[in-house]
Amino acid sequence: MSDRPRLLPLLTGARHGTRDAMTCLYRCGNACDHPVPNTSDNAYFGDVVNAEMSRRGVVRAGAVGALVLGFGGAAAGALAGAAPALAAPTTTPDAPQAFGFGRPSTGVGNGALTFKPIPPNTLDTLVVPNGYDHVVVIKWGDPVLPGAPDFDLHHQTAAAQSRQFGYNNDFVGVLSLDKQGRRALLVVNHEYTNEDLMFPGFSGLDGLSVEQLRTAMAAHGMSVVELERVAGTGQWQPVNKGPRPYNRRVTALSTKFELTGPAAGSAWLKTAADPKGRTVVGTLNNCAGGVTPWGTVLSGEENFNQYFVGADAAPAELKPKLDRYGISTASRYPSGSRKWERADERFDLAKHPNEAHRFGWIVEIDPFDPESRPRKHTALGRFKHEGANVIVAKDGHVVAYMGDDERFDYLYKFVSDKKFMKGNSWAARKHNLTLLESGTLYVAKLDQTSATEIDGSGKLPTDGAFNGRGRWIRLVSGNRSFVDGMTAADVLTFTRLAGDKVGATKMDRPEDVEPSLLTGKVYVALTNNTNRGVGSSPKADEANPRNANKHGQILELIEDRNDNASETFTWSLPIVCGDPTDPSTFFAGYDKTKVSPISCPDNVAFDATGNLWISTDGNALGSNDGLFATAVEGPERGHLKQFLTVPLGAETCGPFITGDNRSVFVAVQHPGEITGASVENPASNWPDGDYAKPGVVVTWRLDGGPVGS
Ligand code: FEO
Ligand code: CA
Ligand code: CA
Repeated sequence: MSDRPRLLPLLTGARHGTRDAMTCLYRCGNACDHPVPNTSDNAYFGDVVNAEMSRRGVVRAGAVGALVLGFGGAAAGALAGAAPALAAPTTTPDAPQAFGFGRPSTGVGNGALTFKPIPPNTLDTLVVPNGYDHVVVIKWGDPVLPGAPDFDLHHQTAAAQSRQFGYNNDFVGVLSLDKQGRRALLVVNHEYTNEDLMFPGFSGLDGLSVEQLRTAMAAHGMSVVELERVAGTGQWQPVNKGPRPYNRRVTALSTKFELTGPAAGSAWLKTAADPKGRTVVGTLNNCAGGVTPWGTVLSGEENFNQYFVGADAAPAELKPKLDRYGISTASRYPSGSRKWERADERFDLAKHPNEAHRFGWIVEIDPFDPESRPRKHTALGRFKHEGANVIVAKDGHVVAYMGDDERFDYLYKFVSDKKFMKGNSWAARKHNLTLLESGTLYVAKLDQTSATEIDGSGKLPTDGAFNGRGRWIRLVSGNRSFVDGMTAADVLTFTRLAGDKVGATKMDRPEDVEPSLLTGKVYVALTNNTNRGVGSSPKADEANPRNANKHGQILELIEDRNDNASETFTWSLPIVCGDPTDPSTFFAGYDKTKVSPISCPDNVAFDATGNLWISTDGNALGSNDGLFATAVEGPERGHLKQFLTVPLGAETCGPFITGDNRSVFVAVQHPGEITGASVENPASNWPDGDYAKPGVVVTWRLDGGPVGS
């Protein structure tokens, strides 16, 4: 008998699947209403047939005893000797060692996903399987910095918000603070704000006061929050007493970032306020991210374009570059403009045309050093970065995989010049903190095995797979450009244009890209692309096999010789998403009567046994968004099961499974974001029974067992 639940009817008022117009406005600046930014004529698939730590931070670390860095959620550090332990200061007696989240340990389970899948639903609550419980760990407005004022919806200020948990949590990373697994640091992105749902009496963006605009800026960025485990369970809660030395807010309003790498200091990045082109105030639209083997967090600046106006008056030679990044040069106020220039004129490109180039980078923050200045790494290129996930290659170089989340944009990877330094010394960590400052940036070009059979319907080719070979095309290495007519700084600042020139493969919105640290195989969430094959847009190809692609697909990439630094690879699509009764779907050949329907994969993560967990954004099948899990190896490969759903109007972000396999964290982003909703008339009452608030949730098994099993 099928255990696949019945689908519910579509919600009303949706634009793209269940994704509401309000989300389109605030999250992406109405990206879908604008022309596809990639108008390059580079051959698309169908045409290429065959073819230093601060002193204070150290002292604080010493104060908490043997500091142990967790790495990744999923058995991280087990591979390639990436021992994720940070030495305790020499003043501490304990020998440092990896523990807890960092690597597989006994008790993580055998990996069998035995939970009973939950049905698709449109309930205004968070639903988890039988035998599990969940709690909101922290939500918008909760205190982050000690002494933060109580949240006051009607008198919110930028100063208060700068000390409180920001809005619209997205990426979630959890890094352990002690050997016993009792304390940890939660690191979260705050991607964007929705002023309709934040300010009582909202009457439009033009009606916001400058203080309200500044409050929105302070609600962007990141948070670092110290957590404590609840009595030996998988539940976690914020530490709410004591000094909490690591707690930190990073904002779009006031946090200073250092630019590193070959483009730092280049002419493109200089502004009146920063004539050296090396220091940027703020980070924007931080979407997904990753935890590094050396215990820092990476964060992707994504839809930064929507914060800028005035591109119509930018210098003529800049306009094609701005257009390629979705910054419309046709009008002063493109659809979706946030009007931040009323609070800070640097967001007006007519006055400060280079300011936009200072966003769209991968950001690295060291949560263990609260005084450290976060960095924007130009060596990893500039695009609408979804996130970045790092693995240590066989030869010790570190490799970061990245997606550019836009219709018909590209898949990238970065390989460091320097090698990862093993060991638990402070010297090793200082070295590893420089790894993302220099290296080689590549873009992916995918070939196919069944090109003549791809008709846009999603029909599986006769060789039984959507698959092929591929290669990484070198764009830039250090200060050396491999792209005709572009300097290294050009390539890094206008990476999309470089990808166009070398004929990179146009993908269906590459979101999270994450290597399994157990196998080295890389998984890419390609969320959807309703423009595929429509009008003059590129048609379906084997890696993006459906025209008008509403539901997206998962791509698996295996580097040649299983070497993550390789320049060639093979790829396949283990999952082509949708309702499994839809013949265009594929679940690695698994019995489709036993899999859960899934639509619009966005973020991916691994548990300690190597299962792939997938969260969704914009479910086009009528259910709320959710979190799914499947094996990717062995006979259960493709047996996808739904683990949770989030409340009305929300998308499921994070996710993060702790390395002890006891806790699943997700970020509930934009609950109640449905056109017409407001503070006074919320479309969701999650989580307090009042107006909606984004928040981070942890789920755990009531019997204390490993999650998923
Ligand atoms: Fe912010 Fe690509 O999702
Ligand atoms: Ca094939
Ligand atoms: Ca995302």
